Amino acid sequence: MYKDEILDLYKNPRNVGELETEYHEEGENSSCGDSTEIFLDIKEGKIVDVKHRTEGCAISTASVSILTDEIKGMEVEELKRLDRDWMLDKLGIEVSALRVKCAVLGLKTAQKSLED
Ligand code: FES
Repeated sequence: MYKDEILDLYKNPRNVGELETEYHEEGENSSCGDSTEIFLDIKEGKIVDVKHRTEGCAISTASVSILTDEIKGMEVEELKRLDRDWMLDKLGIEVSALRVKCAVLGLKTAQKSLED
């Protein structure tokens, strides 16, 4: 992904909104205070819809946009297995060690929503 596409996802994030669901979690990047809320609609072990509300930087907002597009239709067990490297690979740009937290904010929050 190119920087222009990241900026486009920042200005026009995908899958923004809320869902009535028990699979809901808020996550915060403690280093900057930015946050995201993720809502997963799950049926028969599959993620059938995803929404989010994100107040974050370009990298976190673009990453949540990409994440929500990618996990729609995915098995819950597969989401649990996704890691930092998967997210960075999907983001496709170099990020500094400090910004890795921005990139994985959505993924960690989505995975946490499955825990309760
Ligand atoms: Fe806050 Fe990136 S600077 S999430």
